[in-house]
Amino acid sequence: MSPTKTEARRGCVRPPHFDILWLPRAALETDPSDCVVVVGVSRPRATLAVLAVLLLSLFLACHLIYDSALSGLRRGGQSHHSHQLPHRPVLVLPRRLYPTAARRLPQAIIMGVRKCGTRALLEMLYLHPMVQKASGEVHFFDRDENYNKGLEWYRMQMPHSYPGQITIEKSPSYFVTPEVPERIRAMNSSIKLLLIVREPVTRAISDYTQLRANAVAASPSGPPLAAPVAAAQPPKSFEQLAVFPNGTINEAYRPLAISVYHNYLHRWLEAFPREQILIVNGDLLIEDPVSQVQKIETFLGLEPRIGTHNFYFNETKGFYCLRNETSDRCLRETKGRKHPRVDANVISKLRRYFGEHNQKFYELIGEEMGWPEE
Ligand SMILES: *[C@@H]1O[C@H](CO)[C@@H](O)[C@H](O)[C@H]1NC(C)=O
Ligand SMILES: *[C@@H]1O[C@H](CO)[C@@H](O)[C@H](O)[C@H]1NC(C)=O
Ligand SMILES: *[C@@H]1O[C@H](CO)[C@@H](O)[C@H](O)[C@H]1NC(C)=O
Ligand SMILES: *[C@@H]1O[C@H](CO)[C@@H](O)[C@H](O)[C@H]1NC(C)=O
Repeated sequence: MSPTKTEARRGCVRPPHFDILWLPRAALETDPSDCVVVVGVSRPRATLAVLAVLLLSLFLACHLIYDSALSGLRRGGQSHHSHQLPHRPVLVLPRRLYPTAARRLPQAIIMGVRKCGTRALLEMLYLHPMVQKASGEVHFFDRDENYNKGLEWYRMQMPHSYPGQITIEKSPSYFVTPEVPERIRAMNSSIKLLLIVREPVTRAISDYTQLRANAVAASPSGPPLAAPVAAAQPPKSFEQLAVFPNGTINEAYRPLAISVYHNYLHRWLEAFPREQILIVNGDLLIEDPVSQVQKIETFLGLEPRIGTHNFYFNETKGFYCLRNETSDRCLRETKGRKHPRVDANVISKLRRYFGEHNQKFYELIGEEMGWPEE
């Protein structure tokens, strides 16, 4: 039997070592009131432990002081040797932990032209993290019933945005509506405007294609062939609508009239300085989106963020699809609608007609677009 056990059994002696004592049940039962301490530290060992703790604290304290002195030296030397020790702030507090999202009036507007890729342009810009877009076409400045509701109504049509983000709206009919430039100027005279244009004859044919598709969709009996009345009068071809039987061009035909860009642009240039309007070449935007979007980022004062990684070419569709961190998106099928084959003579005739109008447009914008004149 060990001496500990003997002592414990005998009475209540302070245990001599830093040991856990397994006391026999009997030891407690005999005289429990006197046996309080069953685990303890012998006095010399206690002194040793306290000393060890003290030494450890001292060591730690010295180490801390040394460390902070060293980092102080490093920081001091940094102005001269910043390349050796890159500055890494220990604790960075964001200026605003929860920036306030709110609906804001647009700082930029895509004002037209219809069928030139306004939707594509807006979706491409939306790839930028600092851009927010209104979801539909708002038609605030061109429709009196909306304009009369006031700016607060307009603001409520905008998406939520964070401070520093740019809100963009697009309504292509703004471009051709006479009242719009002055109305936009009254809201914000330093707003940035984006005008996307395409080669005028291509745009006119695209416009015709869209109008015809809309007419088919709107006819109550479905496709024209199903209705005997409609079948008796097949829809007019682009050639028939654009050129009279006597060979003169039907200048009043809306798809042609809208392609005479200078007729509308001059009003915008009376309301805004030229530098506030960026002319985007819609044909180039489809062929080479990255280079065009980078120009627009600069115009809008955005950091360059959109690049080749945001686009991939879809062979089946024949145009670019968009990609952000979370999803892939191709423009809606109707946007890539196939144009009808138009008589080459009519195209040449129309290009000659637009030649002079294009020159007037180039003069207004101070840039050449290089559109064919034959
Ligand atoms: C007007 O537009 C400019 C250019 O986008 C923008 O910086 C400014 O904040 C806008 N002003 C107001 C009152 O929204
Ligand atoms: C051609 O026909 C249109 C419509 O019928 C007419 O307005 C125009 O004056 C004609 N032009 C010529 C040169 O005859
Ligand atoms: C490409 O377009 C076709 C036709 O719309 C579609 O079915 C296909 O999923 C697209 N492919 C990619 C990789 O987006
Ligand atoms: C990516 O695009 C989708 C579809 O437009 C959008 O819902 C999503 O918020 C975008 N993600 C980022 C990170 O911008």
